[in-house]
Amino acid sequence: MNDSINAAITIPAVRQRKVRRGGERLVMLTAYDAPGARMADEAGVDILLVGDTVAMVVLGYEDTLQLSVADMEHHTAAVARARPTALVVADLPWLSYHVSAEETIRNAARLIRAGAQAVKLEGGRKRLAMVEALVNSEIPVMGHVGLTPQSVHAMGGFRVQARTAESAQRLLEAAKALEHAGCFAIVLEGVPAAVAGLVTAGVSIPTIGIGAGPDCDGQVLVYHDLLGIEQALRPRFVRQYANLADETVRAIRSFAKDVRSGSFPAADESYALGKEAAEALGIRA
Ligand code: KIV
Repeated sequence: MNDSINAAITIPAVRQRKVRRGGERLVMLTAYDAPGARMADEAGVDILLVGDTVAMVVLGYEDTLQLSVADMEHHTAAVARARPTALVVADLPWLSYHVSAEETIRNAARLIRAGAQAVKLEGGRKRLAMVEALVNSEIPVMGHVGLTPQSVHAMGGFRVQARTAESAQRLLEAAKALEHAGCFAIVLEGVPAAVAGLVTAGVSIPTIGIGAGPDCDGQVLVYHDLLGIEQALRPRFVRQYANLADETVRAIRSFAKDVRSGSFPAADESYALGKEAAEALGIRA
């Protein structure tokens, strides 16, 4: 038997996946519930990210800042119940890793106990102490730099970052520092493609891009964007592979029509009563 077939994807295996070392590009997709995780896993993604984008694409918030550790725990547990082969990484929500190392470790541990194998947190140099504290507690950490949505107010909106030579250099230094602090991979979000290429060349852990061009070691998309479920916002980096929003509305319209016309449910969609009981009740079986 070949042990590598359907073997769970591990942190050391992900850490090795550098394109320049001959590694295959990493495929990461967000997942927020068990059926989504099951389908993404069946499709062969490497990493399921229980992203705090759940706040926007599932829970209806305008940004990710309202999300609690309990919310993330709930969605992480749902994804883990699908028992995916993919690595499960859960986002630490805003303010769950900013106050103290002890609080950070306790919050991350809740997500690990809910079923994640690693956590992701946003930010560069300011977060190094927390990354080190987590890694020292045996909690693997994925970094996230560039456009960091939890900093939406500080950034003045969801804006592409690192557009000047100085800020690109700062981003490169931040990525190197995160690698040094122990991150096993780094998400690069919303940065010019050339800057993502520079960062990818400058670190020996894989970079996973979103809105960061083709030169990263992997790519991530939000589940609802890829499938065309969430169409309110359509950033240029989203490639939509299906249009489930239209398909879903079409299906629900058909259901409503069939209910109103009385054609649903049909006899073969209903349960029959035994002949004897029907006769006793004086009704049709
Ligand atoms: O929360 C999320 O979905 C993310 C991805 C966009 C990288 O952080």
